[in-house]
Amino acid sequence: MPRSADDKNIDKKIEALREKIRHHEYRYYVLDDPEISDADFDKLMNELKRSEAEHPQLITPDSPTQRVGGKPREGFVKAKHSSPMLSLDNAYSEEELRDWERRVHELSGRTDLEYMCELKLDGMSLALVYGDGHLARGITRGDGNIGEDVTANVRTVRSIPLSISKDKLKKTGIPIDFEVRGEMLMPIAAFRKLNEEREKQGLAVFANPRNFTAGTVRQLEPSITAQRRMDFFAYFLLKDGQTFFDRQSKTMDALEAAGFKVNPNRKLAQNLDEVWKFIQSWEARRDSLPYEIDGIVIKVDRTTWQRELGFTGKAPRWAIAYKFAARGAVTEIEDIVPQVGRTGKLTPVAWLKPVPIGGTTVSRATLHNMDFIDQLGVKIGDWVEVERGGDVIPKVVKVVEDKDHPRGHKQFEMPEHCPVCGGNIVRTPGEADHRCVNANCPAKLQGTILHFASRHVMNIDGLGEALVNQLTECGLVRNVADLYKLTTDDLLKLERMGEKSAENVLGEVEASKNLPLERVIYGLGIRMVGERTAQFLAEHFGSLDAIMNASAEELEEVNEVGPRIAESIVEFFADEHNRKLVDDLREAGLKFKGQKKEKGTKLAGKTFVLTGTLERHTRDEAKKMIEDAGGRVSGSVSKKTDYVVAGSDAGSKLDKARELGVSMIGEEQLEQLVG
Ligand code: IVH
Repeated sequence: MPRSADDKNIDKKIEALREKIRHHEYRYYVLDDPEISDADFDKLMNELKRSEAEHPQLITPDSPTQRVGGKPREGFVKAKHSSPMLSLDNAYSEEELRDWERRVHELSGRTDLEYMCELKLDGMSLALVYGDGHLARGITRGDGNIGEDVTANVRTVRSIPLSISKDKLKKTGIPIDFEVRGEMLMPIAAFRKLNEEREKQGLAVFANPRNFTAGTVRQLEPSITAQRRMDFFAYFLLKDGQTFFDRQSKTMDALEAAGFKVNPNRKLAQNLDEVWKFIQSWEARRDSLPYEIDGIVIKVDRTTWQRELGFTGKAPRWAIAYKFAARGAVTEIEDIVPQVGRTGKLTPVAWLKPVPIGGTTVSRATLHNMDFIDQLGVKIGDWVEVERGGDVIPKVVKVVEDKDHPRGHKQFEMPEHCPVCGGNIVRTPGEADHRCVNANCPAKLQGTILHFASRHVMNIDGLGEALVNQLTECGLVRNVADLYKLTTDDLLKLERMGEKSAENVLGEVEASKNLPLERVIYGLGIRMVGERTAQFLAEHFGSLDAIMNASAEELEEVNEVGPRIAESIVEFFADEHNRKLVDDLREAGLKFKGQKKEKGTKLAGKTFVLTGTLERHTRDEAKKMIEDAGGRVSGSVSKKTDYVVAGSDAGSKLDKARELGVSMIGEEQLEQLVG
């Protein structure tokens, strides 16, 4: 169809706008150095969206509006690599590194080699194929020869250019058909924030940013990938499967000049002493980076010598990865044992060869659920890195594999019957957890009592596993209220119980009656009501009776309480046994009243809608901030909305707000409103 002169004019205008947006995307996502505010950027983007909506025939695939598109897919198509994507051999000490150099000297017959030192980014490698300057395909490494076509997801990563002008390619000496290889990763801050949100929603958490990256790149729904701030650092440039420039250092400079994100922390070393200095300085500073690195990659700089050195089976002889020491402790998984909790959930627990971390010996670590095990690919007999932060439960962060730490072989499988009561184990479709469905499973009762007595709940010291097992097995304790009916005589009938210990336990039970309302709420063991939620409920309602009589809608007004939690609370109190339990606890003299927290009035009567990814606060924090100041947060924009708080990637809600003339503000303005 011949295009009108009008169309051509508009086309030019739209293309100029796209160029402007590409420039600002580059400043923001590649250089981390924006020239304009987020709000101004959004304005440009919305202008482009509007123009394209008016002239849909002019939309191009490389338009900044086209990063997310298409429907969710059912699976990925396999794609062959232009040349194998290899892995690297590792060195773990200066000595091993010098051995490598000796081999390189011998094989090349030269000793005057220069080495490119780069950070070893702990993400997943990816190939980007460009045709005629346009991003055509993104392919995962796969088995090195064949990967998966993840183009739709790769397109959502804002630091990856969708197209590069011929002009720019020419200037940088890059051909118009080329391939870039590099590392996709997730910044640590984004990882923590997203994992926290997943945990609250009861979704499977990820062990480390690398696993989260892998899960995200292989997401079937590109809009989800788009919401998770991923980053891509380029480190190879190929033409027809072969290295294009004559030096690795030139490759990095050219990629940088063409607009790719290239890690600035690199160095062309003249000899191995310089390499070693670079390694040491980064091992000491690795925590200062916003993303994870697990070592330094050293590459012979000149392509000619690389070709001469060639490859062994799976790795080039011209490069090596120096691996940093593990951050946490490395130990062996001797067994994986499912443990039944108070909700009937089976938690696979790793039984570790005991290892000291930060002053205590660690011998157990949670593996959460089957999804977590699959994601880590962990097997019995594997060596794993275990970390411990503060006083939290030790975490398995990754499987370690090298010549001193061979892989385990025994796959863990969830049992079909409960290891405690023999009841059926069921995994509800769509849920990560396996559960024992027997309502009378003793493990549930024991778990409930132990939870109730634990330090963060009713803090009944001395009521440990052994005592709880005895008390429940002989039928003295059938629910938490029974604890308050125990007498010295009852306890003295038990094994290993003297008068002094019995008195101590009863003293602790008595003292627990003085603990505040939020502890009692937490202690009831309502599904999805953790320590924080209990606190918010207590502050909002001020008494257990008010909570018991609240409707789901009223409960949803509480900070961080969504429909699922509200439903779980209503369900709990609708149960006759639970109401009887509450009556018994009241009779025992526990605190049923607390202090209602008075709300601020600054935002009284104002309704807010949050949209997009906020940078300075989590969604929950922003919501709490608004509610503490007396405002209300709603899920959808309507005429009644006073403000839309927009983060990055804000979508349709922003359009709606504009349509209705609702004020749009950023996080900073929200902070100012709250004072
Ligand atoms: S070069 C043939 N450079 O480390 C050379 N790899 O253990 C292969 N990696 O699969 C890669 N940062 O995922 C290279 N600056 C870097 C890297 C890097 C991270 C990863 C990459 C590779 C793995 C090998």
